[in-house]
Amino acid sequence: MEERLGTVVLMCGLPGAGKTTYARQLVRRGYVRLSIDEVVWRRLGRRDAGLVLAAEAYDRLKEEVRREQRRELVELMLAGRDVVVDYSFWSRAARDDYKALVESHGCRWELVHLKADRATLERRLGRRSDEDGADCVTVDRALLDRYLAQFEAPEGEGEQVVVQPSA
Ligand SMILES: Nc1ncnc2c1ncn2[C@@H]1O[C@H](COP(=O)(O)OP(=O)(O)O)[C@@H](O)[C@H]1O
Ligand SMILES: [Mg+2]
Repeated sequence: MEERLGTVVLMCGLPGAGKTTYARQLVRRGYVRLSIDEVVWRRLGRRDAGLVLAAEAYDRLKEEVRREQRRELVELMLAGRDVVVDYSFWSRAARDDYKALVESHGCRWELVHLKADRATLERRLGRRSDEDGADCVTVDRALLDRYLAQFEAPEGEGEQVVVQPSA
C-alpha cells in the first residue's frame, strides 16, 4: 500500500487575523499544532511577555523555541502526522525555508494567509486582551504597527487566501 503523504499547513497572517482559531479547527481533524506562543507562555507563565521582556530577549526566546519546534516538525512528518504550524510566517524567507523542509521529507505543504483589515485586527486584539491564556498574547497598537511594517504578504507563492469579514 502506498504511504499517505502528510500535510503541513503553514499559517500566515498578522496578529488577530484568526490563525490560532483556524489552526484549532484543524486540530479537531487530527492535526498536531505547533505554536511558539504556547511554549513561551508556558515557560514564562504570562501572556504579555512581548511587552515586558526586552525585545531582544523575547526574540531570542522565540527563536530558541522555533528551533526546537522545527526538529519536532521533522519528527512528526517522519511519523506520518499532519501538522499545522501556527506561526505568523511574516517573511517570505521563512515560508520558503519551511516549504523546502516539508518537501524534503516528501510531505505536502499548504500556505494559508488569513487576511483582515486593520480595524478588525485592532478590535479583535482589544477584545482578546481581556482574556488570558497562551492564545492571547497581548499585542498593543505599537506592537501591531511593528508587525504591520515588517509583514511581507505572500503573493504568487501558492497561498490560499482567506479573507475575513470586517465584523
Ligand atoms: N473568523 C473569525 N470571526 C470573528 N472573530 C474571530 C475569527 N477568527 C478569530 N476570531 C477572534 O479574533 C481574535 C484573534 O483570533 P486568533 O485566532 O487568536 O488570531 P491570531 O492567532 O491570528 O492572532 C480571537 O479573540 C478570536 O476569537
Ligand atoms: Mg495566535
